[in-house]
Amino acid sequence: MSSLFEKIFYTFPDVCCFAPGRVNLIGEHTDYNGGYVLPCAINRGIYCMARSRNDRRLQFYSTNYSTEPIKKYDLDHLEFQNNWADYPVSVIMAFKAFGYELERGCDFLFRSNLPEGAGISSSAALEVVTAAVVKELFFHYISKQELAIISQFAENRFMGVNCGIMDQFAIAMGKEKNALFLNSGTLHYEYIPLKDASIAIVIVNSGVKHSLASSAYNQRRCECELAAKNMNVSEICSLDTEEFEKKKHFITDKLSCMRARHAVYENHRVIEAVNALKRHDYRHFGLLMNESHISLRDQYEVSCDELNLLAETAWSIKGVYGARMTGGGFGGCTVNLMESGAVKDFIKLIKLIYKEKFGIEPLTYSVSVTDGVRTM
Ligand code: GLA
Repeated sequence: MSSLFEKIFYTFPDVCCFAPGRVNLIGEHTDYNGGYVLPCAINRGIYCMARSRNDRRLQFYSTNYSTEPIKKYDLDHLEFQNNWADYPVSVIMAFKAFGYELERGCDFLFRSNLPEGAGISSSAALEVVTAAVVKELFFHYISKQELAIISQFAENRFMGVNCGIMDQFAIAMGKEKNALFLNSGTLHYEYIPLKDASIAIVIVNSGVKHSLASSAYNQRRCECELAAKNMNVSEICSLDTEEFEKKKHFITDKLSCMRARHAVYENHRVIEAVNALKRHDYRHFGLLMNESHISLRDQYEVSCDELNLLAETAWSIKGVYGARMTGGGFGGCTVNLMESGAVKDFIKLIKLIYKEKFGIEPLTYSVSVTDGVRTM
């Protein structure tokens, strides 16, 4: 990659960072409702090499868009150009908004093996890896947690997606062989060991591409905010299931009530799932994953036929503890927890059944749980 950098930019890189993708085990659409999530960083992601320049120009190149020319921006007049490089540019805008002014321009080279728009956070990884190289080049003292916050700000303010903190936080703070149990309201977190070699995580990509920004993601968030307002709480997940049942009649709109019900019960499931994981009770953990999928399908309405087939098929395969859609939804991937010995047959079967119904073979990724963003 270093020689490619030289070929593209006629100089050598000063820094190289890697940001992983993430898969969320449970706790979906809770992170902007003040709730819990349980994601982990995975062994696929985005590399970025960079070098600061002597002028005020920013240049971006990606091996994933190798037929496209270098994207050029002016540090003093940052404006979007409606291409992939707007993501790293949004991060530089966010640094600026946080008071971190880049002294000089930079050249950036990216290489990714994360599928895009698949619900395993390719955009958050792109943001966090950019933030990480900028930190290495100019602002050493910034913490990883702050990188996550800056990256989320970039997505919210400049990319127009009102997402929560889960993706950026998991990508920045993930830990090898551990899931990250995060309270998205307080940012208090705990690592939950996932060290048991007898279990495996397999991701199945439906191939249906979602578009978070243009999809109903922001709308879901508004529906939740209405429910919170109606129930006179600042965040839905501050209510436990009992309190919610007592207050839900205040919610004026049927859809908002369904969304709130999902968030409250999903939040409760995360706590149960963490306890199950601590006891190595994968069967119980898996059942909670399945319940999560059903709630996302029926209450939150962010699943689709393809994801439903993948999850429902997985539930019937021997050795599978649980399966659910993961990420924002409207396409993307399922996450499947199973016995290690079941992986081979699972992959064979799920590909076959999916292809029979939808005509394409889904990609599958048998992933390991890794550390968050790091310098290489
Ligand atoms: C996307 C967002 C996250 C989170 C999930 C749903 O991945 O970026 O903040 O809301 O959807 O759980």
